[in-house]
Amino acid sequence: MVKDEVLQALEACRGARLSGGKLAEKLGVSRAAIWKAVESLRTDGLQIDAAPGGYCLDSSDDSLTEPGIAALLHTKCLGHKLLVMRQTDSTNTALKQDYADQPEGFTLLAQTQTAGRGRLGRSFYSPPGGGLYMSVLLRPQLPLAQFNLLTLAAAVAVCRAINACCGLSPTIKWVNDILLDGKKLCGILTEAAVEGETGAIHYAIVGIGVNLRLDHTSLPDALRPVAGALADFTSQVPRRAALAAAILEQLERTYACLSAGQTAPILDAYRAHLCYIDQPIRVLSPSGAYEAICRGINDQGNLLIERPDGTRDVLQSGEISTRPVC
Ligand code: BTN
Repeated sequence: MVKDEVLQALEACRGARLSGGKLAEKLGVSRAAIWKAVESLRTDGLQIDAAPGGYCLDSSDDSLTEPGIAALLHTKCLGHKLLVMRQTDSTNTALKQDYADQPEGFTLLAQTQTAGRGRLGRSFYSPPGGGLYMSVLLRPQLPLAQFNLLTLAAAVAVCRAINACCGLSPTIKWVNDILLDGKKLCGILTEAAVEGETGAIHYAIVGIGVNLRLDHTSLPDALRPVAGALADFTSQVPRRAALAAAILEQLERTYACLSAGQTAPILDAYRAHLCYIDQPIRVLSPSGAYEAICRGINDQGNLLIERPDGTRDVLQSGEISTRPVC
């Protein structure tokens, strides 16, 4: 499709001017066809400037498109096949329902989600424009007992990607909320299809939602005290495409480590990012809430806590969540 090829060419020289005539020649189409494609891209919201010297995709344009991500991607596998949807209920749900037979690394993104999902049946607020909502299909050759570590690997990857893109240093609230100054910037929902009899993992979906910009005045009441966005902490907010590419790159690294059986570097990195260590937390379990001191994680990624009477406990992520005690 001419439109895709024009976008690819504009992305390849983002910020510089591209001659319509030369592009027409290269693609073997008329200049009018190029102009039509550019108009259609503009209608989609891309900031493309037209001048006698040619067309220029503005360097600040924050459109989220397949060519835009592909132009920045340096992975061996993750994200090589990408799809950006305008809207879906949840990228995790859509990936599971419609794309589970795609090759490993397939990544589904959406501009907005109407029913974004979080851990423990919660919803994930996913307005258009200011957020990155993506789900990555993986086929881990891991024992089911180690599946938890995939979640840890994803959390480390997101922290590293944010740091690489804008210099911020987020922390991790067990299991996989990414925080900055106590505000939640990102949530991760890792799901799997497992063979009942053997426990073999058919596929895993790592769903990642990052708030780049939030209009705090229109946040649901419950989110106001907890939600944050990169723009609250830096003026150097990355483009969504750049953050998506960085996350895929970092996830590929931590996933490769895990797949090679090298769990120690992931656990070490996770521990280095973990917040509330040796601080009081409130544990919310199905049998009730109680206070404890956070003592870090064990090598399976479970949370170690100490109760007020000095007894220690190991919490699995399943139905537990924690909050700091303020
Ligand atoms: C949480 O906060 O508990 C996890 C939130 C995970 C949100 C992401 S956004 C992309 C993907 N699609 C979803 O429905 N959820 C994940």
